[in-house]
Amino acid sequence: MKADFKLTQEQIDHFKDRGYLALNKVTTDEDVAFIREIYDRLFRERIGWDEGNCFDLAGADEEGKEIALPQILGPARYAPELNDTGLLKNVTAVAKQLLGEEATCGFAHAIFKPPRIGAETPWHQDAAYWGSTHWNNSISIWVPLQDVNKENGCMEFVPSSHKYDVLTHQCINKDPRIHGLELVEEERYNIVDPVSCPLPAGGATIHGGYMLHHTEPNRSDVPRRAIILSASTPGTERKLPRKFYWNEMKRTPRTDRAKAAQHRKEAASVTKVTN
Ligand code: NI
Repeated sequence: MKADFKLTQEQIDHFKDRGYLALNKVTTDEDVAFIREIYDRLFRERIGWDEGNCFDLAGADEEGKEIALPQILGPARYAPELNDTGLLKNVTAVAKQLLGEEATCGFAHAIFKPPRIGAETPWHQDAAYWGSTHWNNSISIWVPLQDVNKENGCMEFVPSSHKYDVLTHQCINKDPRIHGLELVEEERYNIVDPVSCPLPAGGATIHGGYMLHHTEPNRSDVPRRAIILSASTPGTERKLPRKFYWNEMKRTPRTDRAKAAQHRKEAASVTKVTN
C-alpha cells in the first residue's frame, strides 16, 4: 500500500456532501497486528484507570460490575510507539486532504466492546462533548482492528446530519455518573435512513463533530476493537454561544479519579520541594 494515501475527488465530495467516508484500507495488516497487540495490553492492564483516562463509557464504574464499554483516552501517552505507526502517517495524509495542510492529527481514544456484553454506543454528535463557544473543525477517524459489521458494532451514520447544529443531549439513561452522551428522546426523530459501514480490519470511517452516529451492541462471540484518531484545524467563535447543560450536570467517577490523581501529583511535588 502506498504511504501517501490519496483520496479521489469523488471521496472528498462525498465527505463534504454526506458528512462521512468509509475507506476499506488505511494501513497494512502488519500495522494492524502491531497496534492490536498494544491495544489489548492497554485494556488488559486497564491503563489510565487511576487517572480517570480509562472508564466505562456506558456505565458508572460501579465496583463489582462488569464494564460494558471500556474506553481509554489518549492511548498514545501510555504507548508512544503508536505515534510511529503507518496508521498515523496515512490518516494524517487523509486528514490534510479533507481539512487542509495545517491540520494536526493524533490518537484520541480507544473503545473496546467485549463479546456479547459490549453495550450500544447511542446516537450522538461528538461536538456535544466539546466546548460550546466555538464551531469545531474536527474529524474523527474510526479504525476497527478486526472486521466489523452490524452484528459486532460497525459505525452507522445519518447521512448529511453534519449540517445540523448540536442537538440536545443527555447522559446515557439520564445518569449524570455516566460519561457517554445520547440524543434526548425528543430529538430522535432526526435519526432518518441511517447507513451502516461494515469494514475490514484496518479500514476506517471518517466523520466530523456534528455528524449523528451510533454503533450497535456487540452480539458476536469475539471482542470488537476500535481505535479512534482525531484531526482538526482551529475552530471559529460562535456569534451566539450556547450552553451544553448536559456537560455541566455530569458528575462521573472518572472525573473524581482524575481530581484525586491531580492532588496526589501536587502533594508529591510539594514533598519533593520540602525535602
Ligand atoms: Ni462519537
